[in-house]
Amino acid sequence: MTQDPPDLAQLKTDLLAALEVATSLDALEAVRVHALGKNGVITGLLKTLGAMSPEERKSEGPRINGLRSEIAGEIDAKKAALQSDELDSRIATESIDLSLPPREAVQGSVHPVSQVMDELAEIFADLGFAVATGPEIEDDWHNFTALNIPESHPARAMHDTFYFPEGAGEDAKPMLLRTHTSPVQVRTMTAQKPPLRIIAPGRTYRSDSDATHTPMFHQVEGLVIDRDITMGHLKWSLETFVKAFFERNDIVLRFRPSYFPFTEPSAEVDVGYSLENGRRIIGGDPHGENGGWMEILGSGMVNRRVIEACDLDPDEWQGFAFGCGIDRLAMLKYGMDDLRAFFDGDLRWLKHYGFSALDVPTLSGGVGA
Ligand code: PHE
Repeated sequence: MTQDPPDLAQLKTDLLAALEVATSLDALEAVRVHALGKNGVITGLLKTLGAMSPEERKSEGPRINGLRSEIAGEIDAKKAALQSDELDSRIATESIDLSLPPREAVQGSVHPVSQVMDELAEIFADLGFAVATGPEIEDDWHNFTALNIPESHPARAMHDTFYFPEGAGEDAKPMLLRTHTSPVQVRTMTAQKPPLRIIAPGRTYRSDSDATHTPMFHQVEGLVIDRDITMGHLKWSLETFVKAFFERNDIVLRFRPSYFPFTEPSAEVDVGYSLENGRRIIGGDPHGENGGWMEILGSGMVNRRVIEACDLDPDEWQGFAFGCGIDRLAMLKYGMDDLRAFFDGDLRWLKHYGFSALDVPTLSGGVGA
């Protein structure tokens, strides 16, 4: 005795009606389990195929399987629709207040070198200087030749240069890691028309390492090119800068005659320090007991050969330049004693000496108070 073929049409109508009223993912899942789960009605029908005669199976198999895939497809479509509805309503109701501080304590801090660079930019912006940049991987011409340091010049040896493998540069000379920020003078003079007023803070490299030298360090270059610039402008600019940076008015500078191939005349500049409450501070009377001088930068009037190398007429354009170690400035201002700690990445050190991201230096608010 053969069984009547199951009424698939009725089953399909029932299941589709159940799907119709399933308005949540949970309700949909219940319909799926009812139809296609381990003990589901369609699963049950599929199980009956095994007991059928081959002819019966031939006609019933495709019908039951057809229903199974049709219902599975309906469930998938309904699921996708419900999920997208759910997302829409979450987007409509949930909101994140981006102005709230993060729940975790803020961990990061601004490195003192970055802070000092920002302070320098702020001070010099007030004096009308723009910030310029140049590549850290530099060619021989910009780093040396254009700065009046020819091939045979002993200053090249003094710079302890890191060179790249032979012949990588455009002029077939090896590229190098810039040994100072002075190539930015050349890049600025060749790219822009004077008058020029720029500072160029950035990384510099020399093969040198001890308590006061690291292979990578930071400098800031200053350059002014105009028609009637004198050493007087240089002196005033540096005094104004140093007073603003250390936030004291009783700071004296000492200009010592010196030599740099790219400036003539050249001066090294010392800043006076004194002892205050047992601490060495910048400012006060350098001639007093325990007072003295500390070298902070090199400077001078831009050598006319540099101006010529940049295709400018040295009888029309002239100016001053200076170069200053930033790490040293940071140490003097914020009282660190070992330069190497700047580059250790020790979180405890950064926590102690770092700055809050909200401590943006301004002249009115104090450049790093
Ligand atoms: N480039 C020099 C140095 O690294 C500093 C300097 C810059 C001197 C500009 C004079 C003018 O030592």
